[in-house]
Amino acid sequence: MSGYILAIDQGTTSSRAIVFDGDMRIAGVGQKEFTQFYPQSGWVEHDPEEIWETVVWSVKQALKDAGVEASAISGIGITNQRETVVVWERESGKPVHNAIVWQDRRTSSYCDKLKHQDLEETFTAKTGLLLDPYFSGTKLSWMLSDVEGARARAERGELCFGTVDSFLIWRLTGGKSFVTDATNASRTLMFNIGTQEWDAELLQILEIPAEMLPEVKDCAADFGITDKSLFGAEIPILGVAGDQQAATIGQACFEPGMLKSTYGTGCFALLNTGEDMVRSENRLLTTVAYRMDGKVTYALEGSIFIAGAAVQWLRDGIKVIKKAEQSGDLAAEADPTQDVYLVPAFTGLGAPHWDADARAAIYGMTRNTGPAEFARAALEAVCYQTRDLLEAMHKDWKGSGADTVLRVDGGMVASDWTMQRLADILDAPVDRPTILETTALGAAWLAGQRAGVWPKQKDFAKAWALDTEFKPKMDAETRDAKLKGWRDAVRRTLS
Ligand code: G3P
Repeated sequence: MSGYILAIDQGTTSSRAIVFDGDMRIAGVGQKEFTQFYPQSGWVEHDPEEIWETVVWSVKQALKDAGVEASAISGIGITNQRETVVVWERESGKPVHNAIVWQDRRTSSYCDKLKHQDLEETFTAKTGLLLDPYFSGTKLSWMLSDVEGARARAERGELCFGTVDSFLIWRLTGGKSFVTDATNASRTLMFNIGTQEWDAELLQILEIPAEMLPEVKDCAADFGITDKSLFGAEIPILGVAGDQQAATIGQACFEPGMLKSTYGTGCFALLNTGEDMVRSENRLLTTVAYRMDGKVTYALEGSIFIAGAAVQWLRDGIKVIKKAEQSGDLAAEADPTQDVYLVPAFTGLGAPHWDADARAAIYGMTRNTGPAEFARAALEAVCYQTRDLLEAMHKDWKGSGADTVLRVDGGMVASDWTMQRLADILDAPVDRPTILETTALGAAWLAGQRAGVWPKQKDFAKAWALDTEFKPKMDAETRDAKLKGWRDAVRRTLS
């Protein structure tokens, strides 16, 4: 059997497919952006049909780019934007509504209502999450209430709910598999991460019929086989993980105490806590890092909603750059005497504040403030927020390895300026690996080792290679002054 593995990475702004060869090297890539819908302030939607079309297009493109036939692929690993909700008809596979995206804040008042009923502790104890619109449960509940006839249809078993992975697998297998994996399930607010089952009490509170939920599998498992008509050959789907968990795997953070942070649309830091379901006292999430052979490894997660999205805002919103890659160079030109702070609460603030109603703000502008200061403020905001997460993690995690170096990945980490500033703000080293496609690699590894064509965990971890270690250079006085300014800006932004 060949060692070719196909990873499908269905992200927030684009769908990607990557063919890896038997040496775990990239052989071909396909990528397509798709439309973001903002029907109201704080609402974000995707068209599931467009998601599907861009995935199929990307897979075909990646195969072409790699010069391999579908029959040469030993297995598929799927990774995806998490929490985003899709509901479709069991009979036809047709979505009943646009997907409600993880960033969407429409259920903010519903979450408040549940909090006032003192239900947050019940949800947190079982799911490790908080009552924030970020997670799938209240979004699904909204769909069942607001799409005409949806709840009754769901009760009759006519509708299916899935995070994006489930929807894709359903489509890829021609409606034969209705499944998800434990990491995606752990983000729904309906899944008990201790018992690893959908939770009847939570479903009742959210008024969600259990009939519409997928079967939950390990991250490496038999998820189904693609319909031959799609790519010309049947390919087994052997790995699934939410994108942040896939990045944790791709970064080989397999030991308790190991930590990664991925800078995509948002920024998500995950600390492997092993078999311990560490309960945060600092508003971090407890989540499933991965489940292999029925054994769960847990993580503490800090979630920031805006990271790369701030760079997109520089490019598309205020148009101070033409390409995302220019942001670091522009930031480097900023006037060091100006203390400009951007608190990028465009879709509220995530950990550790969880303020769904906060909105973005800029502080400290003078008559000299221009594009360079905006760029620096946007990039520094990502660094400050990472620091806030790591401080919270250090308070929560008493286990060994708490001082392990941060492994970083995602589009933004290609910028040396940003990574150096991150090390400076954290006052700790930051390790950038040679492979930055860690999310896709993690999903591919799940499938590759399951197919028996890629190395098992230990040897895969050994293959992780360092590109650059960024060491802190900023003096303590400057850092402290900057942190003080950031905290003040956040305090003024909270709703
Ligand atoms: O939880 C949301 C996350 O899965 C989205 O990831 O890569 O689009 O920032 P990304």
